[in-house]
Amino acid sequence: MSTTFSTVAQAAPDGPNSPVPWWRNAVIYQVYPRSFADGNGDGTGDLAGVRSRLPYLRTLGIDAIWFTPWYSSPLADGGYDVADYRTVDPAFGSVDEAERLVDEAARLGIRTIIDIVPNHVSDQHEWFRAALAAPQGSPQRQRFWFRSGRGSGGGEPPTNWESSFGGGTWTRTTNPDGSPGEWYLHLFAPEQPDLNWNHPDVRREHEDVLRFWFDRGVAGVRIDSASMPVKDPALPDAGGDPAPGEHPFLDRDELHDIYRSWRAIADSYEEPRVLVGEVWLADPGRFARYLRPDEMHTAFNFDFMTRPWDAGELRASIQSTLDAHRTVGAPATWVLSNHDVTRPATRYGREDSSFGFAARRFGTPTDLATAHRRARAAALLTGALPGSLYVYQGDELGLPEVEDLPLDVLRDPMHFRSGGVDPGRDGCRVPLPWTATGPSFGFGAAGEPWLPQPDGWGAYSVESQERDPASMLSLYRAMLAIRHAEPGLLGDAFEWLAGTGEQTIAFRRGDLICTVHFGPEPVTLPAHTELLLASTDLTGDLLPTDAAVWLRA
Ligand code: NOJ
Repeated sequence: MSTTFSTVAQAAPDGPNSPVPWWRNAVIYQVYPRSFADGNGDGTGDLAGVRSRLPYLRTLGIDAIWFTPWYSSPLADGGYDVADYRTVDPAFGSVDEAERLVDEAARLGIRTIIDIVPNHVSDQHEWFRAALAAPQGSPQRQRFWFRSGRGSGGGEPPTNWESSFGGGTWTRTTNPDGSPGEWYLHLFAPEQPDLNWNHPDVRREHEDVLRFWFDRGVAGVRIDSASMPVKDPALPDAGGDPAPGEHPFLDRDELHDIYRSWRAIADSYEEPRVLVGEVWLADPGRFARYLRPDEMHTAFNFDFMTRPWDAGELRASIQSTLDAHRTVGAPATWVLSNHDVTRPATRYGREDSSFGFAARRFGTPTDLATAHRRARAAALLTGALPGSLYVYQGDELGLPEVEDLPLDVLRDPMHFRSGGVDPGRDGCRVPLPWTATGPSFGFGAAGEPWLPQPDGWGAYSVESQERDPASMLSLYRAMLAIRHAEPGLLGDAFEWLAGTGEQTIAFRRGDLICTVHFGPEPVTLPAHTELLLASTDLTGDLLPTDAAVWLRA
């Protein structure tokens, strides 16, 4: 059964009654299913757990859920190694249950976005198993990138490319007689062979998978590693300074044709489905090309997400974000974290509070009180900016990164492929605490969740925070309620407030003002008629360091 929403009519920048499609200013909550809520008590989160917590998400005030992959997967990369796109992993539930979840959420006004992973599949996917079983040069191998090695006996990989997970990007196969065979390409882990997007089967299959889920009421897809699927078929070595669009495997111009065909499919539904790109590109102009009117609707704003807690840095990122999006008429997105990066309630307390994968190390000191304070202010900053807002599960609870997980429980290939130098991404994936006490703090009936929770986790629980009007959860609820109620926060209206000083970010949207202060000395609030929300207690008209307010002008 398919669920449809009608386009919601809301106040818009170009007229009070212009219809604004829902995704232009939606609040989208990211669920990492393994760690959200465990409905069947086996220690792993699942769809039953999510269904039981839909009332919580409704009360939080979100418009949509984005699920990281729920498909059948050996979990070599937390589900981004998909074995079968038309199934739900039995650990999570079933396709029937996913449909029920989509419908139940829709009845609460919450849309569902799922993850699509076009760059690669699991090495357990039937296509790759068939390719391995077939001889060199066979049609089955042409859906992937199989090549002979270089050097004597083909013992060297076909290119010098480096994996985002560390190490090389090629793994050598073994022939049935035990002799070394061809190599296959994987930009990520060896368990994630890259698909060959020049092959018509690959294109057809993904278009079919999109329809499979769109027909089941899914409102949109988040496109994994969206700037990587197309490769230069000549497979040249990386290096030098290739012209834009001519890197051997990143941001190639041919990608846009794929997303145009996906957009046509998305647009063919009564309520058009939405494409959200995971596009990590430093050049704002190249980034914006993915958001042209016949391609994706939005893409994650990683420039903003990775900047340090610094007024100048964040102001510059906001400006360049708005400029780049204006060129293509797409709304910006604002993201503080996700399942791949260090949680803001830890990162913002570091001496260097920027985020970079290569810089992640065990034992980097942080001041958690400072980080928490800044994470509250950052929530109000992102919540007030024009465009859509992403909230990663647990950030609304102010969860810190868990940095002392025992080494023997770590699962992330980024940790292992770094030779153990990078702590990896498990610390932001620890199961959520729902209750102050009890087995796994209410995550599930099992005492032992798949990653252990810290002893003090109950203090961060939903139960504890619901009782506390000063908690992070109460702040998020209040913020999202105001965001939905205030016409000034819809649409694109945005204007910097002048004269607030280098250490303060201040802007106006309609009759609302958001001010965030970074400097050590308090500053006087801009003129206002009403204080709507503050990230901290205020004394008089002063805004202290690392704090934010929403005011009515
Ligand atoms: C980006 C995803 O967010 C990440 O978790 C995954 O490891 C890579 N893409 C590879 O699929």
